[in-house]
Amino acid sequence: MKIDLNGKVALVTGGAMGIGRKIAELLAENGAKVVVADINEAAARETSASIPGSKALRMDVASADEVAAAVDSIVRDWGRIDILVNNAGINTGKNRVTIDQFSVEEWDRIMSVDLRGLFLVSRSVAAVMLRQSSGRIINISSVLGVVPARLQCAYTTAKAGVAHLTRTMAIELGDRGILTNAIAPGSVVTAGTKALFYAKDAFQAEKAKRMLAHIPLGRAGEVEEIANAVLFFAAPESSYINGQVLCVDGGWAAGGFLRDF
Ligand SMILES: NC(=O)c1ccc[n+]([C@@H]2O[C@H](COP(=O)([O-])OP(=O)(O)OC[C@H]3O[C@@H](n4cnc5c(N)ncnc54)[C@H](O)[C@@H]3O)[C@@H](O)[C@H]2O)c1
Repeated sequence: MKIDLNGKVALVTGGAMGIGRKIAELLAENGAKVVVADINEAAARETSASIPGSKALRMDVASADEVAAAVDSIVRDWGRIDILVNNAGINTGKNRVTIDQFSVEEWDRIMSVDLRGLFLVSRSVAAVMLRQSSGRIINISSVLGVVPARLQCAYTTAKAGVAHLTRTMAIELGDRGILTNAIAPGSVVTAGTKALFYAKDAFQAEKAKRMLAHIPLGRAGEVEEIANAVLFFAAPESSYINGQVLCVDGGWAAGGFLRDF
C-alpha cells in the first residue's frame, strides 16, 4: 500500500520491536518522519538506525514524567505530531491463572502500560494535536479486547478499555480535527511468538494447532498485515473514519469458529 505522508511527524510507542517496528518502517516508507519511542532505548536506537530520517527516544509509557518529556522534545525538535500510534503493550507471560489467583501486582503492571500508559501518551499528544487542529491517533488494542480469552484477565480488560477509550477520544476530539481509531490484532507472528506458531516438536506443534483452530483463516497474521491497517487509518484518504475498532484477526472475532466442527 502506498500513501502520501510527506511532511507528517509520526510517534510510534513500543516501536523498537515486533508490530511497532513494522509500523514505524511502513510509516517512514510512506514519507513520514518517525519517532521510535520505547522503554528499551538500545533497541529503539538500533531500529531507528535502519529507518532513514527517524529518531529514537526513550519513553516508558507508564511514566507520566517520561511521556511529558518525550512529547516536549519531539515538539521542540520537529514542531508537531501528526500521527500517534499507541502500540506499546505487555501481557502476562507463562504464569497464566484464573482471576482468583491473579496477583494484584500483575494486574497493576499490565494496566499501567496497556491502559494507563495509552491514556498518558494520548493525553499529552492530544494537547499538541489540538493546537494544530489536526491529527490521527491509532490505538493498538487486541482481538482479546473484543472477545475475551481465559487466564489473562488484566490484558483482556485493558484491551477492552483501549477500545472504549478509542471511542471516547473519537467523540471528544473529532470535531476539532483529530480522528481516533483502533486496530485489534489477532495472533501475530513476531520474534516473541514465532517459536509458538512454528514449533518443531510434536507437543508444541499440537498446541499451536489448537491455538489456531478458532481462526477461520487457519494461520497467524504477519506484522505487515497489522501495519498496513495502521497505514490506512493514518492515510489522508480515511478522513471520514472515526471511533472504529478494526479487527485484523483472520476472522477470529466474527463468530464461534472451530475447525473440524
Ligand atoms: N503479537 C500479537 O500476537 C499481538 C496480538 C494482539 C495485540 N497485540 C498488541 O500489539 C502491540 C505490540 O505487540 P508485539 O507483539 O509487537 O509486542 P513485542 O513485545 O514484540 O514489542 C513490544 C514493544 O513495546 C515495548 N514496550 C514494552 N513496555 C513498554 C513501555 N512501558 N513503554 C514503552 N515501550 C514499551 C517493548 O520494549 C517492545 O519494543 C501490543 O500492544 C500488543 O498487546 C499483539
